[in-house]
Amino acid sequence: MSFTNESEASISSISPVFTRASTTESPLTSPDGSNFDVKDIDSALVDCLVREYDLESICSILIQIAYRAGDMIVAADPSVDDSDTKNNSSDRVTVTDKAVEAMIYESLKAAFPSFDFLGEETFKEGQKLTDAPTFVVDPVDGTLNFIHGFPNVAISLALTIARQPVVGVIYNPFRRDLFTAVKGKGAHLTRFDGRKTALPIKKTPAPLTSLNDCLVAVEWGNQRHGPNWDLRTSVHKKLLSAKDGPDGDGGAMVHSIRSNGSAALDFCYVAAGWFDAFWEAGVWIWDVCAGCVILSEAGGMLASANPGDWSPDLEGRCYFAVRGAPSDGQRKIVEEVWGLMDGKSFTYPVRK
Ligand code: IPD
Repeated sequence: MSFTNESEASISSISPVFTRASTTESPLTSPDGSNFDVKDIDSALVDCLVREYDLESICSILIQIAYRAGDMIVAADPSVDDSDTKNNSSDRVTVTDKAVEAMIYESLKAAFPSFDFLGEETFKEGQKLTDAPTFVVDPVDGTLNFIHGFPNVAISLALTIARQPVVGVIYNPFRRDLFTAVKGKGAHLTRFDGRKTALPIKKTPAPLTSLNDCLVAVEWGNQRHGPNWDLRTSVHKKLLSAKDGPDGDGGAMVHSIRSNGSAALDFCYVAAGWFDAFWEAGVWIWDVCAGCVILSEAGGMLASANPGDWSPDLEGRCYFAVRGAPSDGQRKIVEEVWGLMDGKSFTYPVRK
C-alpha cells in the first residue's frame, strides 16, 4: 500500500512560518505584526507537519488493522490463553496481546516503513516519543477484562506527529464500537450496524456546573500500596462521599463512579459524553494516546490528574479527561477534583 507525501519531515526541517521579535523575552510576532505565545508556534509547526500527510488515508488503514486485530481477539479463547504477570499479579500479558501487537507491527511496517513504532508489548526501557511520525499502540487495552471474558476490551492505535496525537482509532471488537478521530476533522463512533455518529453524541452538550452532578470514570491500577495508592483511594472515597452538612463527610457526592478496566475506552466514553470525566494516573502513553485525539476532536479537555497542570505531558502518566461543554465548566470540574487531593500529587516514574 502506498501513500502520497510520506516524508521524513521533522520540526527542525520546517521553514519558520513566524518570525521572532528581537529578544527572546519580547513577545513573538507574526508577519502581520500581531503577538502570540510559544504554544501558537508549536501548534502552527504541528499544523505544517500534519499537512504533509494524508491523515484520513492513514486513519482508514488503522481501522482495517483494528478490525483484523479485533477478529484475532474475539477468536482467542482466554480460558486457554496463557498469561504472564508483568509487575505484579494484576499486571498481565497474554499470548493474544503479543500476537496482536506482532500483527499490528508487521502491518504498519509494511505500509509505513519510515514511521516509528511504540507498542506496549515491545516497549524497551528508556524508549521515548520523538518528533518523528510514530504509531503508538496498545494491542489489548483491558487485558484483565479479556482474561475474565468481560467485553470491555479495545485495540488502541494512534499516530503522533511532532509528539502530538493526530489520528486515533479505538475498537472494541466485542461490542463492535469503533471510535475514530483525525486532527481537525472531528471524532466519530461507528456502531456494529455501520451507523456513524459524530462525537459528542449530544450535539449541544449540557454545561458542567458541579462535580456533584457528574458521572466520573476512575480506574484502580495495579500498584496497590504506597502514597499513590493512598492518594487514589482517598480521592475515590471523597468523590463518592456525602458533602458537608449534618451527616456529610466533606465529599463531592458525585452521581457515581465507574471503573470499566480500559483507559482507552474511558477516554472514548468521555468523548461521547457518556461519562462527564475520567481522572486517572499510572497508565502509559499507549493506554491514552489515541483517546487524547478522540477526546479533543469531540470538544473535550485534557488536564493532568495532578493539581495545577493544565497541559499534561503525553508521556507523563497523569490524565484528567473532561467531556465537551463550555470551557469554564470544564475547568471548574477539574479544579473541584484537584481540591479533593489535599495538595498531594502522584509521582509515577515515567519509564518502566
Ligand atoms: C490497563 C487498562 C486499565 C488501567 C491499567 C492498564 P492494559 O491497560 O488501561 O484501565 O487501569 O492500569 O494497565 O494493561 O490492559 O493494556
